Amino acid sequence: MPSDNHAKHILLGVSGGIAGVKSAELVRHLRGFDAEIVPVLTRNAHRFVTPTALQALAGNRPRTDLWDAEAEAAMGHIELARWADAVVIAPATANILAKLANGLADDLLTTLCLATTAPLFLAPAMNNKMWEHPATQRNVVRLQADGATILGPADGEQACGEFGPGRMLEPVDIAEAVVAVLASPQCLAGVKVLVTAGPTREFLDPVRFISNRSSGRQGFALAEAARDAGADVTLIAGPVHLPSPTGVERLDVVSASEMKAAVAERVEVADIFVSVAAVADYRPSHMYEQKLKKSERATSEMRVALKENEDIIGSIANTHPRPFVVGFAAETHNPLDYARDKRLRKGMDAIVVNDVSDAAIGFDSADNAVTLIHDGGELALDKMPKRLVARRLVTEISALYHQARA
Ligand code: CTP
Repeated sequence: MPSDNHAKHILLGVSGGIAGVKSAELVRHLRGFDAEIVPVLTRNAHRFVTPTALQALAGNRPRTDLWDAEAEAAMGHIELARWADAVVIAPATANILAKLANGLADDLLTTLCLATTAPLFLAPAMNNKMWEHPATQRNVVRLQADGATILGPADGEQACGEFGPGRMLEPVDIAEAVVAVLASPQCLAGVKVLVTAGPTREFLDPVRFISNRSSGRQGFALAEAARDAGADVTLIAGPVHLPSPTGVERLDVVSASEMKAAVAERVEVADIFVSVAAVADYRPSHMYEQKLKKSERATSEMRVALKENEDIIGSIANTHPRPFVVGFAAETHNPLDYARDKRLRKGMDAIVVNDVSDAAIGFDSADNAVTLIHDGGELALDKMPKRLVARRLVTEISALYHQARA
């Protein structure tokens, strides 16, 4: 029987399509949000994923049959329908779309869908001709009119070898869409959040600079997640190759001193300052106005004198009044010890640390695994896509911010 101590309850319906093999990954992503999951398999889902595999990942016994007396005794299907905060069906075949559009209830999953008042998310997966068929399209329009959210499908190569729309969205995108609706969506409504992201460049001459490997992805994801949580977001970005998030004010800067000036200009009105940027600690003491020529360099060894850049977050954390201050630390060794020390030394309210020596979660990778350290404790988040890390962090930072102001 599912326990009740988790934030969100999700019924994960799996119907009989080849994309069912991805449902295990979806369970993993959703659990990263502390969601409690009860998988519900249709008769044909068994052909693509085993209840044993889903049980191991979800931690709850999958439900398969309306007439399973033992499961019903533990939690009847009407009770299960009430328990759910969301119903997610991934993959959703053409057949289940047709059944749901017509209100059929001829198995456990369709019965639950009729019996629940929780939001319904459908991630269609099927051959492109089946997807484009007027009957399927009619069903989709009907389901949307009934309040269901249709996630995808994506375009591309299909299991049958054809190309076109019908591929199930990636599990991470499905998880993100569901979590965006469920994870206290407006926890930062009306709050002004200032975020810095990306690297800075410290020029030696007009063509050469010192920089670092930050891609800006985690900072941009954080700005987006804060925006989705209702915040009014300003993003100060170093040189990165990322599109501007819609609805976010973006200011581009190059050097640490430009970033400092941009932050100083905006920080007075900010309620929360999240410094994700990998600000260069040093800049060349002298910037040459013209390109340095090899002949002008005296020997085969060249020394560049460096000057320390001012610590942006440190100076903000030491002003009064000041926003709620959250820093980031990318470390290659002893990450927790360094981060704990850094937080106290710079006077931050919280710090998020990740271990960049691990290539799977380091620079430029799509995933991250972080620990959030604050006055009241530490929270480790397992490896998950940066966009999901951002959503979790926004929920946690928002709770800390509101607590600090109370
Ligand atoms: N930071 C900043 N200004 C700087 C350098 C860093 O605001 N000039 C911020 C970063 O945005 C981040 C935090 O400080 O939020 C930690 O950055 P990091 O470079 O790890 O800190 P350092 O004190 O420079 O530590 P290290 O010795 O590891 O470089």
